[in-house]
Amino acid sequence: MGQKRVLSGVQPTGSLHLGNYLGALKTWVSEQYEYENYFFIADLHAITVPHDPKTLAENTYTLAALYLACGLDPDSTTIFVQSHVSAHAELAWLLNCITPLNWLERMIQFKEKAIKQGEEVSIGLLDYPVLQAADILLYQADLVPVGEDQKQHLELTRDIAARFNFQFGHPKAPILKVPEPLIRPEGARVMSLTDGTKKMSKSDPSEQSRINLLDSPDAIRNKVKRCKTDPVRGLAFDDPERPECQNLLTLYWLLSGKSKADVTAECADMGWGQFKPLLAETIIEALQPIQSNYRDLMGDRSQLEAVLQQGRGRAEVLARQTLQAAKDALGYTRTL
Ligand code: TYM
Repeated sequence: MGQKRVLSGVQPTGSLHLGNYLGALKTWVSEQYEYENYFFIADLHAITVPHDPKTLAENTYTLAALYLACGLDPDSTTIFVQSHVSAHAELAWLLNCITPLNWLERMIQFKEKAIKQGEEVSIGLLDYPVLQAADILLYQADLVPVGEDQKQHLELTRDIAARFNFQFGHPKAPILKVPEPLIRPEGARVMSLTDGTKKMSKSDPSEQSRINLLDSPDAIRNKVKRCKTDPVRGLAFDDPERPECQNLLTLYWLLSGKSKADVTAECADMGWGQFKPLLAETIIEALQPIQSNYRDLMGDRSQLEAVLQQGRGRAEVLARQTLQAAKDALGYTRTL
């Protein structure tokens, strides 16, 4: 049996933070040689909320550079830009026409973002998960590694694929593969530094709430120093009354590379005054190689462009096949 195919993406909006890294990118990198990988930059999704055309291209480059800086290997992994492969938008339209409106109105992320935007909400924001389904189904992906917040979108993708296959396919020869989410429990939900009950998010207006992968050591020290804690002495995992403690200890665990048991023992009697500098230096050390790779990559745009061009070529081959199969199933003619 061949390798399983993995696909995922990140939107080029705002800076990549520790939630994106621990929830998605770190897993992509550490498991890349086990799978056939497709990782893309979701720049069509990036315009579902108001955006600035002056920064879209630059953010796309920055994110591609971060993919590589975090350790994705372009020889074994296809890295590409969503808008470079027009089949994404085309399959999204076909899937729109078989997706019931009420499936989309139920989406938690839509409801949350729609509240913030009031009357400015676009059809694109409502349609976001259908485009995401098209991204995944075009490549017949087996597994989709994401953070916990994407679970509902992946369930919808599975429902759309099953509905398409049921309506237009043959039970023995499904047209679209029904994918499985790949959500690693550790790091799947990194929380805000200012409120341990809210997830870390690019769209939180407070910079204090997140640590970006490109933050300077001083910025990291400052954010950790000021982050929310609790009045209890001694740090422990799995206390539902202490969400900040759970989050900060998990960050230390995942970024230090130590075992959970070692971290539990090391921090059991620690106060926050001792733990915070330790956490800050651990984060700085973990991000240092990523930041240094990033600076090198941004110094040589031609290398980055070559990676994206090669990725586009590889992605287009697969995408075109699935799009054609979907159009055939829907009854479009090829010859006229
Ligand atoms: P985006 O850019 O919002 O998030 C990128 C990835 O980061 C994960 N993530 C988190 N993980 C843990 N803790 C957090 N606080 C946290 N915040 C974000 C997200 O789960 C995601 O894996 N809709 C996707 C982009 C996308 C996509 C796709 C993904 C478009 N098409 C197809 C997979 C397959 C998103 O949330 O991007």
